[in-house]
Amino acid sequence: MFYSEDIIEEVRSRNDIVDVINSFVSLQKHGSDYTACCPFHNEKTPSFHVNRDRQLYHCFGCHEAGTVYTFLQRYENYTFPEAVKYLADRAGMQLPEHEMTAEEKRLSDYNQTLKDINKEAATYFYYMLRQEQGSAAMEYLKNRGLSDETIHAFGLGYAVIGRNQLYQYLKSKGYEDSVMIDSGLVRFDEQYGPSDVFWNRVMFPIMDLQGKVIGFGGRVMGDGTPKYVNSKETRIYEKRRHLFGFQIARRSKREGFILCEGYMDVISMHQAGFDNATASLGTAFTIQQAMLLKRYTTKVYLAYDSDSAGVSAALKAIPILREVGISARVISMRPYKDPDEFIKAEGAEAFEQRIRDAESSIMFEVRVASEKYDQQDPESRTEFQKEIVRIVSVLKSPMERDNYIESIAGKYYMDRNNLTEEINRYGKYRTEREQYEEAVRTETPQEIRRREQSESRKKQPQRLLLTWLVNRPKELFPQLEGKITPKDFSDTFLQELAEKLYAQYAASGAVNPALLINQYEDLEQQTQAASILQTTMKYEPSPEDDAKTITEIVRKVKMESVKDQMEHLSDMSQLQKLMEIRKEIPKWNISLDSC
Ligand code: UTP
Ligand code: MN
Repeated sequence: MFYSEDIIEEVRSRNDIVDVINSFVSLQKHGSDYTACCPFHNEKTPSFHVNRDRQLYHCFGCHEAGTVYTFLQRYENYTFPEAVKYLADRAGMQLPEHEMTAEEKRLSDYNQTLKDINKEAATYFYYMLRQEQGSAAMEYLKNRGLSDETIHAFGLGYAVIGRNQLYQYLKSKGYEDSVMIDSGLVRFDEQYGPSDVFWNRVMFPIMDLQGKVIGFGGRVMGDGTPKYVNSKETRIYEKRRHLFGFQIARRSKREGFILCEGYMDVISMHQAGFDNATASLGTAFTIQQAMLLKRYTTKVYLAYDSDSAGVSAALKAIPILREVGISARVISMRPYKDPDEFIKAEGAEAFEQRIRDAESSIMFEVRVASEKYDQQDPESRTEFQKEIVRIVSVLKSPMERDNYIESIAGKYYMDRNNLTEEINRYGKYRTEREQYEEAVRTETPQEIRRREQSESRKKQPQRLLLTWLVNRPKELFPQLEGKITPKDFSDTFLQELAEKLYAQYAASGAVNPALLINQYEDLEQQTQAASILQTTMKYEPSPEDDAKTITEIVRKVKMESVKDQMEHLSDMSQLQKLMEIRKEIPKWNISLDSC
């Protein structure tokens, strides 16, 4: 971590969470909270709450929760230091620089320089597109049906004709040759010296999640080759990790993502209102890109070209998506070549219908296979059936398999029982190792639910007690003295949280939830802690009833703890003491004055 706790807390305290979040999503005052439709999941009624007193947010729908830092890390995908920096800037604070090691600083400065030079180049291309020299390029884009707004939103530009115009421009801005070469914008030739990589092309800037330009694709205007020239990979531009248009698509309110093949497809989809379209960067779709998508969704529509290259690219993307837990559906572009052509010919309404009609990846795989085989020839048909067996066998759930078998049998006139039998037999032929791995890995959904329920039943009183402590610290802490310590929390996470809470109250006589959460580096832990500390108690109409409730919670927590200690006793002399406590617990009473 680059910054000390004091600094982190100071930066946080100078940025009110309501104001910060309100600058990204518009909040409405609602009782003691501020609410909005949750920016982390798709919903129509607001269940996203921000609380000024606690400086926390929480969504009752998807359970995202945290501090202003967590919010920026999730919403803007900032790293923690980036979030600190952002908020420090926002509050006009100077952060101490010396806390970064010299090496860290050198690397981060160099990455920044590379981003700066890409931004400079993008600005230059953008400007040139709007000059006399760029008129043919502008006409090309207009002829392809792009509006001014779209051209602007994607920051499109034009690289002029000429050997080193960009080079000269960047030099005038003070960039060293070595930086220009590292950025992939300029090439150095023994004979001719420096020359621009992109000549006379329309330029598509490629951006990272924050919308910072990290590279370019440059398209020839017309039919020349190569169609695209792309930036080489650099320290800030790794093709396997980025997706075109994703800085916009990740914010889309539409369900899932639409994965296309080309830059032009993405742009025309966005223009037609499908702002959840994205594409890999002229390379095959990768597992890193799948994991990036998985951070936002479990649903992806493939809108690949309808030619055989597009089909085989889709067949390759499906298992990659499946591996990260995304179920793919395939949108048919026929009779058109790609989404761009489809939208131009048929429009957005028709595309919506194609989305609704999208084929599940399994049915797509089976259909593609069916086209390879002559259904009239018995031998060929047997091969086809074997292929079906392989395709359906990737499904883990017997129910899901069964449903697919039914559809496939119906569609291709096959015997359902034969297919089932073949699939079950195929399953048995898998290696012992595969079977073993599967056995230890798979818990059925029911098993998972049961396990989680029984865990949470035990944890529930502990969670509630923490929530009460945050809501009524002044009344409760004194009464818990000698009764409950953090050690009584059996769950390690809750125990740690209790320790922090007790320590904070002991030190300051108050609790400050947001400050506590700062102490967790892990985002998941921040979310978990925040969801406990953020909960506002609904008080009973009478203080007596509240007292009864909290008394019961305290007794339960202690009872569980004593039981636990008895089970793990190492020293028998302790048993006597524990039994005494157990006898006392039912007599404990916690009182509350009034709200
Ligand atoms: P396409 O040839 O389908 O291009 O290649 P496109 O973007 O749809 O462009 P239009 O509609 O023909 O103008 C799909 C993607 O493959 C990469 C690019 O990322 C492109 O968007 N590609 C293609 C290259 O990197 N270089 C090439 O020469 C061709
Ligand atoms: Mn295309």
